[in-house]
Amino acid sequence: MIYVTRREVFAASHRLYNSEISEEENLNLYGKCSNKYGHGHNYTLEVIVAGTINPKTGYLIDLKILKDIIREEIINYVDHKHFNFDVPFMTNIIPTSENIATSFWNRLVNKLPSGKLYSVKLYETENNYVEYKGE
Ligand code: NI
Repeated sequence: MIYVTRREVFAASHRLYNSEISEEENLNLYGKCSNKYGHGHNYTLEVIVAGTINPKTGYLIDLKILKDIIREEIINYVDHKHFNFDVPFMTNIIPTSENIATSFWNRLVNKLPSGKLYSVKLYETENNYVEYKGE
């Protein structure tokens, strides 16, 4: 098994807010992350594909193709956008890193021409990231 990773960066805003609970509960739960107008992050996304090498090409997956898929399915929708308002596939989903990463996984999992999606890693900051492997 071999693993190929493509990294992309994007900037986006979000507000951690659950409309089913009170303002006070939101504040207790999310603190300043629930500030009314949201806040931004420079996110880093890593997409890891696993599989075997095609003997004809020497590739598991052509990284140019992987880059284009990630941009078409994800980056074009989220870069310089607000997760709570601007991203159709995040409607009514609280935009935590966990929920963003699983949404990204769902966007990609059936789109790869070779190999299998192995992992989606989303860094919200240098020190905080989540990883989803589809289980
Ligand atoms: Ni945040």
